[in-house]
Amino acid sequence: MSEIVRIDLAERSYDIHVAPGLLARAGKLISQEVTGPVPLVTDENVAGLYLDQLMTTLKGERIDARPIVLPPGEATKSFPGLERLVGAILRTGADRGSVVVALGGGVIGDVAGLAAALVKRGMGYVQIPTTLLAQVDSSVGGKTAINTTEGKNLVGLFHQPKLVVVDTDLLRTLPRRDLLSGYAEVVKYGVMGDATFFDGLEQSGIKALSGEGNGMATAVVHSCRIKAAIVTRDEREFGERALLNLGHTFGHALEAATGFSDRLLHGEAVAIGLALALALSVKLGLCPREDLLRVLRHLRAVGLPGSIDEISGKRPSADEIIRHMKHDKKTRGGRMTFILVRRIGEAFQAYDVEENLVRELLTD
Ligand code: NAD
Ligand code: GLY
Repeated sequence: MSEIVRIDLAERSYDIHVAPGLLARAGKLISQEVTGPVPLVTDENVAGLYLDQLMTTLKGERIDARPIVLPPGEATKSFPGLERLVGAILRTGADRGSVVVALGGGVIGDVAGLAAALVKRGMGYVQIPTTLLAQVDSSVGGKTAINTTEGKNLVGLFHQPKLVVVDTDLLRTLPRRDLLSGYAEVVKYGVMGDATFFDGLEQSGIKALSGEGNGMATAVVHSCRIKAAIVTRDEREFGERALLNLGHTFGHALEAATGFSDRLLHGEAVAIGLALALALSVKLGLCPREDLLRVLRHLRAVGLPGSIDEISGKRPSADEIIRHMKHDKKTRGGRMTFILVRRIGEAFQAYDVEENLVRELLTD
């Protein structure tokens, strides 16, 4: 199976190529975008698994790639991490004909994309996402960012890649916990805007996660198509793109409250956030309780968390979570914006949710 999903954005348009085994052929695709040296950004784990393979295909196309290997983990998405990366890119001799290649998960894609946007006032970059989360979400749509002590993804730029190369075979080496973390974003697409897709995940999500058949590759392509359609209509999130943040208002606050640590991966936070967004919708009388229960059943069936109590260590308090939620980029005039759900497959933005109701929900 080989698929191309187009992101149609005038001169910033690009293709997402999805196929098993594509990494070995990435050189040919990338060669069309490059004339200078290529800073190849990755992390230590991914370098150990896939750097040689990528270097071989790039060399085969006479591309002068210069690997920059960063420590894995969320701490790399920080001002110190960005500063180190920008310096390393500049030292490769990269010029405006160069492209930065990001080989890794969302952490590498986000920080390398931001560095590419900043160096020489903007270099091109190519995403080669290696986690499920990055393949279905972070490599697509041009959001780049780092975290600060104030919160998640608060410093960043929109900068679209020139190309996204998705090799679904790379998911075979992904630790189960990271695979599930990415699957939370797949579930998000169904709950947000595609009830039929969610039905399919209920029926065959477990099989897809086990690597049997081509269920996961199909889910990756479908998720990319959903995201591509939204990004094409609303690149800069003036409207409907905010729906992609379903589960993230709560999720980002939980990540901040747990110190962006291994206690809670991004997708795990999104899974709990999805459940909380549905629970809030039910509490407001806007969504049938059965829809919340269905989503919770599916999250639990695959092994994802669905409540704050499932986070290891000290439970973050309601006040702490709300304080972090107020840093959310959707907050306007101190009022939080929520993405709520009318039913599975139909999310919407709500600007008038009483803070007390949210506090009650988080305390329950
Ligand atoms: P990650 O990049 O930290 O990767 C998870 C772990 O898997 C790391 O230890 C990494 O080294 C390892 N790894 C990566 N690929 C592997 C492979 N194929 N085999 C074995 N190990 C592998 O985490 P992530 O979940 O990919 O991304 C999370 C980040 O993405 C968060 O910072 C989040 O904010 C960001 N994000 C951004 C967007 C966006 O639109 N830009 C969207 C969603 C999430
Ligand atoms: N991950 C949300 C977005 O790209 O808008």
